[in-house]
Amino acid sequence: NQRLDVAVIGTGNWGTTLALVLARGGRNVTLFGRNQAEVAQLQAAGENSRFLPGQRFPANLGLACDLALAAQAQVILLAVPSKTIRSNALQLAPQLVADSIILSCAKGIESGSLETMSEVLAEALAPHPRGLIGALSGPNIANEIAQGLPATSVVALSDDQAGQRAQSLLTTNLLRIYRSSDVVGVELGGALKNIVALGAGICDGMGLGDNAKAAFITRGLAEMTRLGMARGAHPLTFAGLAGLGDLIATCASPHSRNRRLGEALARGQSLEMALAQLGQVAEGVNTTATARQLAEQYGVELPIADELYRVLFEGKSPQQAGLDLMQRDPKNE
Ligand code: 13P
Repeated sequence: NQRLDVAVIGTGNWGTTLALVLARGGRNVTLFGRNQAEVAQLQAAGENSRFLPGQRFPANLGLACDLALAAQAQVILLAVPSKTIRSNALQLAPQLVADSIILSCAKGIESGSLETMSEVLAEALAPHPRGLIGALSGPNIANEIAQGLPATSVVALSDDQAGQRAQSLLTTNLLRIYRSSDVVGVELGGALKNIVALGAGICDGMGLGDNAKAAFITRGLAEMTRLGMARGAHPLTFAGLAGLGDLIATCASPHSRNRRLGEALARGQSLEMALAQLGQVAEGVNTTATARQLAEQYGVELPIADELYRVLFEGKSPQQAGLDLMQRDPKNE
């Protein structure tokens, strides 16, 4: 059995897209589903008809569900919701090869532990070297990438040699990979931007205009940076692809689940209804709660996340939340 270049775990939008783009780029890649039934269904359809209808699987894209095979890949991409990443990693742990690089593709903060995804992975995969565990994050609207449009992403690993290895295995002519050693910064950029995307969707849904939306996104970025720095991230990481870059894409994209959810809330839908209609995970909902807890721990002010929390979980109207944000004590930028 030839060692896989890349194993992609998770058959959602993003996992499927990553597998597609890497297979098209000539990598030896396999997409791992939950079970044999799911794999058989994907195989028979020749595409992921639920998330990416019409994007046919290239002949060199493998499909499997045995994680023992995934555990031996050079790079393992975990493209599962942040809620399930720990249990997926625990399944992977026993067969992991010593030099495998494991990257989280989920953008969230774990409930309870308030850990970033790579911190969760490091625990679940112990004693695998911390330098080989990181994240892949950037302005990566899956549907666009699956359609063959060009994009960039950031591999965050504290071990630079591992970073170079992952970079060369994940780069294709349509996916340009950058490296960062600021793992926590890249991860928090990806996770916290979902909160801002929810709010940007609310701005859109309320028809507040581009000035208000720009202000909201920019002040959101200030909150992301503030909390990130408290957790040891480099502030400039938030001005990069995994921060500002992802904010721009997500707050504008008609595809973004978080932005769409915000739009639905602004039109008066309840959170339950809007989530049911979405039918997918919008990570920003949970991250609004976890980021607030983290901010409290570190004594950081997050007025935008606070207001969103009240809208999401306490029944506050988006209109009132917007007014309250406008009428906060005057602040210097
Ligand atoms: P959504 O989860 O809002 O769809 O955003 C995807 C994303 O993270 C783009 O980079």
